[in-house]
Amino acid sequence: MSERWTPESWRSKPVLQVPDYPDAKALADVEAQLATFPPLVFAGEARNLKKALGRVAAGEAFLLQGGDCAESFAEHGANNIRDFFRVLLQMAVVLTYAGAVPVVKVGRIAGQFAKPRSSPTEKVGGVELPSYRGDIVNDIAFTKEARVPDPQRQLMAYRQSAATLNLLRAFATGGYANLGSVHEWMLGFLKDSPQSRRYKELADRISDALNFMRACGLDLESHPELRATDFYTSHEALLLGYEQAMTRIDSTTGDWYATSGHMIWIGDRTRQLDHGHIEYFRGIKNPIGLKCGPSLKPDELLKLIDVLNPDNEPGRLTLIGRFGSDKVGEHLPNMIRAVKREGRVVVWSCDPMHGNTITSTSGYKTRPFDRILSEVKSFFAIHAAEGTHAGGVHLEMTGQDVTECLGGARAITDEDLNDRYHTVCDPRLNAEQSIDMAFLVAELLKQERAGKARPMPVAAGL
Ligand code: PEP
Ligand code: CO
Repeated sequence: MSERWTPESWRSKPVLQVPDYPDAKALADVEAQLATFPPLVFAGEARNLKKALGRVAAGEAFLLQGGDCAESFAEHGANNIRDFFRVLLQMAVVLTYAGAVPVVKVGRIAGQFAKPRSSPTEKVGGVELPSYRGDIVNDIAFTKEARVPDPQRQLMAYRQSAATLNLLRAFATGGYANLGSVHEWMLGFLKDSPQSRRYKELADRISDALNFMRACGLDLESHPELRATDFYTSHEALLLGYEQAMTRIDSTTGDWYATSGHMIWIGDRTRQLDHGHIEYFRGIKNPIGLKCGPSLKPDELLKLIDVLNPDNEPGRLTLIGRFGSDKVGEHLPNMIRAVKREGRVVVWSCDPMHGNTITSTSGYKTRPFDRILSEVKSFFAIHAAEGTHAGGVHLEMTGQDVTECLGGARAITDEDLNDRYHTVCDPRLNAEQSIDMAFLVAELLKQERAGKARPMPVAAGL
């Protein structure tokens, strides 16, 4: 891997999950056009996120990363973006206040379009067609024409990402995220739920605290951290041609940055050491994620870390475990020990979604809320036992009242899934389930802190 890196050096390596574009010239034309478009994010912002993640790695903050499994062209609208942002903000408030820890907020949004698939084809009623690979590649409709990869879709994904990011920036800095509005973020359909009561109680306490500070003479308006929030974007950088076109040199440092999003990650299916995705990622300076599934061995992980973060830079690498509630206990401790033994600085995050997907009796791809919670609880327990910081969670979630994951406070059943099952890819937590999750994680964070504060027990016989 010591060869010279360029934004296109990945092209000389094997690459998995590549769409079969019928017209190579049309694809090259689109990529050339994208390369002339403005960047979606700036290198300085990516560096700020890396710094914030460095604090997570040091145990001083928590990473909340979440959003759609796959964004879609059809669901692109202001309400969807607002509802997602609001739920993420509510979750962050719950974690910050109840968990008493700064929260780094990262959306799976404004670029989360390309999807890896377990099988290149899909069969329905005896008809076999190429799999849907996300709206940036082809269309979800089950027809031969719809499934042909179309490069023009990359331009649409770029434009949608730009518009989405524009609104998110406005929400984050234009007053919507003002902590004084903590009550206004209440969601309509949350009103009569246990989560709404819990959230309202917490919002009341925050308002009281703000009023107290005001009464003490503090000028809250002069504190930007109360009026605005830092919000970052992320996606799986699967479609390397698109990513290459969006890779630019930062004029202040001379370094290469992916400008398609602040943080990008490598999927569990494309993390082979000698393949194209690792080659691309090693050369860009953004903070990056690596999905770690049950098939990743600790020694292989260490080799990947050597390539992806040779300088051991804090905040550069987030390891996103996605083992499944029944497998996390078998795999995560060994990984933690290997990383600790080698003195590697990483953010440990937990994706409790992708290892807990099942097919329901009625045939829906779903995830039982209990199993999702169970993986998160194990993640915290394992880190407590290993003396490391449970750094973050990575969730597939939406601000909408969908019925895609089983269980939760409203006890969504297999029969309910049919009501509002809208995802174009994997099942997401709905708004209530997301808030529920935030309260649970806040509780676990509190326990982590309490554990740290306790004096070390003296081992018997010593
Ligand atoms: C995803 O995050 O949507 C995904 C496909 O995850 P993984 O690579 O962990 O399977
Ligand atoms: Co997914």
